[in-house]
Amino acid sequence: ALDISKLRDQTGLVTLDIGYKNTGATKSAITFLDGDLGILRYRGYSIEELAEKASFLEVAYLLIYGELPNKETFEKFKKDITLHTLVHEDMRKIFDGFPASAHPMGVLSSLVCSLTAFYPASLNPNRSPDAVNLTIIRLLAKMPTIAAWSYKNEMGHPLNYPNNALDYCANFLYMMFAYPTEKYEPDPVVVDALNKLLILHADHEQNCSTSTVRIVGSSQASLYSAVAAGINALWGPLHGGANQEVIEMLEMIQADGGNIQKYVDKAKDKNDTFRLMGFGHRVYKNFDPRARIIKVACDNILNKLGIHDPLLEIAKKLEEIALKDPYFVERKLYPNVDFYSGIIYKAIGIPTEMFTVMFALGRLPGWIAQWRELNMSREPIGRPRQIYIGEKERKYVPMENR
Ligand code: ACO
Repeated sequence: ALDISKLRDQTGLVTLDIGYKNTGATKSAITFLDGDLGILRYRGYSIEELAEKASFLEVAYLLIYGELPNKETFEKFKKDITLHTLVHEDMRKIFDGFPASAHPMGVLSSLVCSLTAFYPASLNPNRSPDAVNLTIIRLLAKMPTIAAWSYKNEMGHPLNYPNNALDYCANFLYMMFAYPTEKYEPDPVVVDALNKLLILHADHEQNCSTSTVRIVGSSQASLYSAVAAGINALWGPLHGGANQEVIEMLEMIQADGGNIQKYVDKAKDKNDTFRLMGFGHRVYKNFDPRARIIKVACDNILNKLGIHDPLLEIAKKLEEIALKDPYFVERKLYPNVDFYSGIIYKAIGIPTEMFTVMFALGRLPGWIAQWRELNMSREPIGRPRQIYIGEKERKYVPMENR
């Protein structure tokens, strides 16, 4: 790759690449992705192998610190996390201000950003490695608690405090679904499904939200503010918000008598803004390896739970029809990670508005790893150039003469 970082200083030239389709913004040792061959590796390990064999926290450690943990380091990592799962009681005052209609992603990003107020040492740009690690552990520990709160707010239910006897995923399910009057035991099938989904979402190199985390972090802002910004970037329907949109689209097709062809045609119509949600990807132009794993997992999990969801049938038929259609073939549009993930989330009881929050929980270790890498390599502040296309110099006209 050509390094053109000094091009402007040396020649006066600025490269224009709207949407950064070809521009590399950094060098990174975290995630390898080959969009033509459908390869995805975290720190050299294939996504297929990690999704099958590892736990989410193991993958989180791998992404952040670069190596798989041994038994001892992993036990310490898990213990450190469980020590920090509680959220400061004063944060409940902020939380209580949200109406029940608040989208959980808005609640999540606001509360993650407000961690800066409770841990102001995280704002210090001259932080020691120990201080950075504490900030990382706190965020990994508190994010599931805050995420579960964002759901409880919507439901108007009492909050559940973390249950540190449970592991990371089981504890999250407990905080979401346990009620004071009933004994709650997380179903191991559901815990496994969640582990797998979070691993599949854990990093994806320089996507929209991760680039946001890096660019905010490049100003030496705290990890909490950078991740809050990443959550907001993830929220949009063209990025992580697509998982919610996919289920809503499948439900719309179902309510419309299952007429899939009508929606495929609508997506092809250039006068219509409708797109097939969960289809297409900036980098994958052959297939998305995560979508393949999720499709198989979807069948397995629904079978194990004894659930028959007609939306899965609609999704499979939609994929079949679209993949034979020249419009989608020519543009290399395939199902992406979001296409089948929502059906699994639905099967394990996660409500639709929480889907993007689930994505954020999964992507958290990736955001942290990228923020840490950027800080350790002391990258310069991110500051794109532009080509100005506005008015030439003009004289101010007094109000009465306009
Ligand atoms: N349905 C119909 N047409 C599509 C779709 C789609 N889902 N996706 C792309 N296209 C068409 C575009 O209209 C364009 O057609 P044209 O060349 O005739 O103008 C062509 O395919 C290329 O699309 P772009 O939008 O230029 O591709 P880009 O790389 O910028 O966008 C994106 C990628 C945003 C993922 C896009 O495919 C999309 O909007 N998909 C639906 C939303 C979605 O699923 N997002 C989740 C992505 S995965 C993730 O972020 C986790």
